[in-house]
Amino acid sequence: MSDERLTRPGARQVDKPLLPQDHGLVSLLLSRESRSGRHADSIDSRAVLGLIDHVGVAVSDLDGAIALYEGTFGMPLVHRETVEEQGVEAVLLDVGDGHVELLAPLGPETVVGKFIEKRGEGLHHVAYRVDDIDATLGELKQAGVALIDSEARVGIRGSRVAFVHPKSTGSVLTELVEPAPDHG
Ligand code: CO
Repeated sequence: MSDERLTRPGARQVDKPLLPQDHGLVSLLLSRESRSGRHADSIDSRAVLGLIDHVGVAVSDLDGAIALYEGTFGMPLVHRETVEEQGVEAVLLDVGDGHVELLAPLGPETVVGKFIEKRGEGLHHVAYRVDDIDATLGELKQAGVALIDSEARVGIRGSRVAFVHPKSTGSVLTELVEPAPDHG
């Protein structure tokens, strides 16, 4: 068997077959790197949104939802805040490097209250973490993406946030989050 010629005692037989794959991967990475080197006037050459920060879930019963996510699912509750101007009580739970954000309306006339009345409890938005929210908003504007917030505003836990309009995202309410420096 010709394979036996390549096999020394103690050597891993996979050493040889791995080499061509590694070479291909390096070539792929190099070609991606060279593509991203040019200045982008569109958003296809590198990640504008590269990391999910949290998923926002609209709930009617905040303590009941906490019992599920913290008690049953085992996600540590790391923050709880009432934001009067947004009409919500919000909770953040850690999951991996990201979070689940539970949003309970302070009343039926709030944004989340109307959401629950119209569509029921459930997934409310997806939030992406960015390093420089002003730069990201600028790139999205340049790409023609409709924004609810053309300027960042203050979010929970000292973050800066902005929402992208669902009409530009196939009805997925999309949030950008630049975390406070001590919560990156
Ligand atoms: Co959010």
